[in-house]
Amino acid sequence: MDDLLGRMTDMDKLRDLLDSKKSEAARMIDEKEMMASLKGWVKGQDHVIDDLTRLIRLQWGKEKRKRPIANLLMLGPTGTGKTELCKAMANYLFEDEKNMLLFDCSEFSGSEGKTRLIGTPTGYVGAESGGQLTRPVLNNPKRLIVFDEIEKAWSGIFDLFLQMMGDGRLTEQGSGRQADFTQSIIVLTSNAEHEAIGKIQNEIDDLQERADAVKKHLRDSKIFRPEMLGRFDRVYVFQPLEGIVIAEIAVLKMIKSAQAYGLELEYVAPELVFDAMSKSDKLKEFGIRELERVIDEMLADGLLAARQIGAEKVKLVLDDEGTLVIEPVDEE
Ligand SMILES: Nc1ncnc2c1ncn2[C@@H]1O[C@H](COP(=O)(O)OP(=O)(O)OP(=O)(O)O)[C@@H](O)[C@H]1O
Ligand SMILES: [Mg+2]
Repeated sequence: MDDLLGRMTDMDKLRDLLDSKKSEAARMIDEKEMMASLKGWVKGQDHVIDDLTRLIRLQWGKEKRKRPIANLLMLGPTGTGKTELCKAMANYLFEDEKNMLLFDCSEFSGSEGKTRLIGTPTGYVGAESGGQLTRPVLNNPKRLIVFDEIEKAWSGIFDLFLQMMGDGRLTEQGSGRQADFTQSIIVLTSNAEHEAIGKIQNEIDDLQERADAVKKHLRDSKIFRPEMLGRFDRVYVFQPLEGIVIAEIAVLKMIKSAQAYGLELEYVAPELVFDAMSKSDKLKEFGIRELERVIDEMLADGLLAARQIGAEKVKLVLDDEGTLVIEPVDEE
């Protein structure tokens, strides 16, 4: 019996050793691979992705950390890929989009926001269920945590952010347990002042100078308290999307539409889509968020027809009237 126990402990030791080797491997990030993965999702923001990948790779490699892996502020106009990049990061770094926690700060405009995030004190209704921020992190600390429209949050919430971003810890009310954020990435996003910030972006080339100027502007316009700004490892400014970038995104959506019908879409040059878009009123008038629906509606008939004749691959062509149509690819 003792012998058996002894062997089991050896097995445990071996397993621990293997686990530690595995986590060493897990601590390494392949910069090229990560960059390619993020750029496959998010177009036209390479300046953000290049720097972000480098930052994350270096921080990820640390054995011990007293703060989150990174505290990031993402600024820029609506619909430029801020949330999309967060999803891409969660997917690449934390295995699944589901490991992203997304909070809309316009819902935290009052003091009750605090109890929603970190739980209700003992003795009150709901104390045992914990906070919407602390509980998921207690269950799995490897998270991408996004707070959208940060400027809309009640100012008291900022004290929680300071603690989370500075000490990497928050105590859950009710349970008293400590949620650990040292394996998480924190992202705050804002559209505030995006015009003024976009101007700074265009006027200053040097990245460090530009980041300093953006921080100064945010401080002067009183959107963030100085101690809050000091907690960010990076401030990223997303650029408005240009026509050709929108066409690239359209191609991504087309690949997705084709996949939904079990079809593979042959390479599409973004320029082709760009031309079609600049000629078609129907395609010109919609916003980026409608893109998926518009493309789906535009291609669905063609995709279904191709599927029905048993095609596996399709291509996109411009017909005589300048409309984009789907044609099956003959594989012989
Ligand atoms: N740069 C981009 N690359 C790829 N897709 C994009 C990009 N920008 C926007 N999109 C598409 O538009 C949709 C909306 O973008 P997203 O949610 O990332 O905007 P946002 O910058 O977070 O805006 P908001 O400030 O309003 O939250 C995404 O689902 C995505 O399909
Ligand atoms: Mg967003």
